[in-house]
Amino acid sequence: MKTKHTLTIQEAATLLRSGEVVAFPTETVYGLGADATRDTAIEKIYAAKGRPGDNPLIVHIGDVAQLDQVVSELPDRAKKLMDAFWPGALTIILPRQEGVSDAVTAGLETVGVRMPSHPVALELLRAVKLPIAAPSANVSGRPSPTTAQHVADDLDGKIAGILDGGAVEIGVESTVIDCTTDPPVIFRPGGVTKAEIEAVIGPVVMAQPVKNADFAPKSPGMKYTHYAPDAPMAIIQGSDAFFQRVIDDAQRAGKRVGLLVTEEHRATYTADVILTCGNGQEPLSIAQNLYAALRAFNEHDIDVIYSESFADTGLGEAVMNRLLKASGHRVIREDLNQTEGDM
Ligand code: TXA
Ligand code: MG
Repeated sequence: MKTKHTLTIQEAATLLRSGEVVAFPTETVYGLGADATRDTAIEKIYAAKGRPGDNPLIVHIGDVAQLDQVVSELPDRAKKLMDAFWPGALTIILPRQEGVSDAVTAGLETVGVRMPSHPVALELLRAVKLPIAAPSANVSGRPSPTTAQHVADDLDGKIAGILDGGAVEIGVESTVIDCTTDPPVIFRPGGVTKAEIEAVIGPVVMAQPVKNADFAPKSPGMKYTHYAPDAPMAIIQGSDAFFQRVIDDAQRAGKRVGLLVTEEHRATYTADVILTCGNGQEPLSIAQNLYAALRAFNEHDIDVIYSESFADTGLGEAVMNRLLKASGHRVIREDLNQTEGDM
């Protein structure tokens, strides 16, 4: 299939209405959209991404009037969250409506729904007038795309077109919260923080990360490898001297080492390749640059990537969640006297 790289909003809407798959910008990451009510359209998303069929998709709407088509119940706390955070980076899991394709929900009785705030996404959704299922527009397992070029790198030739809206604003995906339980559970930290949510509906629970693929979590996406660069990665926790010692040990063992650090630490360490992602004092700047940096490592000849551990408060909670997944939860800690051999 020839992918059209310069879709207008109207062209993208026409393709979506005819059952095709197109990538479009949202404020979090680029999404890969298709008509959420049409099985054959949704199957094209799974095929293009190589996504496991048991990992459900998020449905995007441009108007709350579309909610009736997607969800069958709207608990009060979900309504409050919508009023507070929509349009925006919050996906709410609710009991599903019949008309939503079974392929979207992967057979679950629930569906995740969100109204994105990106003006291009909103205009597109309002032009299409259909609920649009859209996972992140990357090949399954790779970092999510934060530019149209990332989408093209992964999906050129596999999708009908790309709507280019420039670089995204947040850089990590939406927060996913299950409002079918009391208290609600955050399945995935993201663009809206736990503290912001609790200020609106009171205490919520953060689901524990899943490290073992045999265990069936309530949110299927939690069990898959995600956001990973090609080279194995580990997070280093300890002093600057410890970090450098881990690097030196790997180089002595013949490995070429890539580092992911904040701008202020660019000159702190020596390694084969050093890539930076934002300013340590500003979690948003790290979120905005994280996936591009993870992708950029694939352009370099390296055998291992070591990353700094970033602050995990506010948006940093989502950043560290993605970094842990990208590294397969490999953390090398000075306080436990760990070495790479312990990974
Ligand atoms: O920011 C975002 O959320 C982006 C943009 C494009 O909107 N989309 C996105 O979609 O990140 P995706 O498919 O990459 O991640 C959706 C996550 C997965 O972890 C999936 O398992 C979970 O949401 N999810 C979707 N529906 C669910 C459901 N009914 N129950 C539990 N988890 C669900
Ligand atoms: Mg994704």
